[in-house]
Amino acid sequence: MTLQKNVLVAQSTDVKYLELGEKKAPSITKILTWDSLGKRHQSRSDELDIKFTFHFLNKTKKEILIKRAFTSCGCTVAKLPATPWVIKPGVKGSIPITMDVRGKNGVIEKQTTIITDLGDVILTTKVAIGAVKSSNKPRKRSKAERAENLKLAAQNRQAIFQNNCVECHVEPTKGKRGRQLYATACGICHDATNRASFVTELRAISKGKNQAYWEEWIKDSKPGTLMPAFAKKHGGPLDDSQIRSLVAYLIRVFPRELKTKQVIADSLKAKDTPLK
Ligand code: HEC
Ligand code: HEC
Repeated sequence: MTLQKNVLVAQSTDVKYLELGEKKAPSITKILTWDSLGKRHQSRSDELDIKFTFHFLNKTKKEILIKRAFTSCGCTVAKLPATPWVIKPGVKGSIPITMDVRGKNGVIEKQTTIITDLGDVILTTKVAIGAVKSSNKPRKRSKAERAENLKLAAQNRQAIFQNNCVECHVEPTKGKRGRQLYATACGICHDATNRASFVTELRAISKGKNQAYWEEWIKDSKPGTLMPAFAKKHGGPLDDSQIRSLVAYLIRVFPRELKTKQVIADSLKAKDTPLK
């Protein structure tokens, strides 16, 4: 498992990337001859589907069969014509690969394996997504201020929605939905880099949790814990429509993002050069 991961990272850092839209004559021979084995793109935050195209040429004197393509994640799709796809000698072709980066952040790298009758070719696509605005980050607190806040929360778990606490725990959630609402209302505690030990690591337990589970915790939470209740009827800041958007995000996107974070962490460990 670990070994295989290292192999993948090693291979991907060897790839010479072509920027999205950049053109180059096929020169890299890996069964077929390709314009590149890796393509990358620095995306704007409003780009949701990133479309790459890999071009190839059959420089051999024999037919080559492309049998199928598979990707490391459902968010990446390679489109082939009917398979087996027969590539005659001297013939050119192209393979579009689309990455869905909805709800993602940071640097995402995916591998697509093209299976031919002569072996596999791995195509790498990489997207760096525009960073979340730093104005979303709360100001730093001193240790003393954090301890004082914690004491107030221990006396009343809803204190967090009142007085000075609103600056960081309520204001940033206003008008937000889905992922941004998660980041401002929940991630502030659950994804904190110096997360308190008694705050659940939510991503680790998120898989397979249903709507009722999320709704109950968000709206009512559990008295006697430090997890606040967010519904208006408990004095919380979130209306029903915001809570619905949050639950939809938590069920559909949130568990998948763990994988993305892992990829980012791994690529940082491998001292992967970030996109400029
Ligand atoms: C300046 C921004 C800010 C203010 C003001 C603030 N908090 Fe927080 N709070 C945070 C951040 C950030 C975290 C995540 C832990 C960290 O990084 O310090 C957090 C975490 C918490 C936690 C989880 C336990 C912990 O310490 O990690 C509780 C409980 C909490 N805050 C309650 C409160 C209460 C109650 C108030 C008001 C009396 C308050 N906070 C005011 C920023 C703030
Ligand atoms: C003030 C910090 C804080 C904030 C903000 C916060 N939580 Fe929590 N959350 C906690 C703590 C502490 C616990 C652990 C409760 C316990 O002791 O069981 C917890 C537990 C949970 C659990 C239960 C996990 C389990 O054990 O099954 C869920 C689910 C959860 N939080 C979701 C959320 C969501 C969704 C949001 C945003 C709407 C959110 N939390 C915001 C502190 C916070």
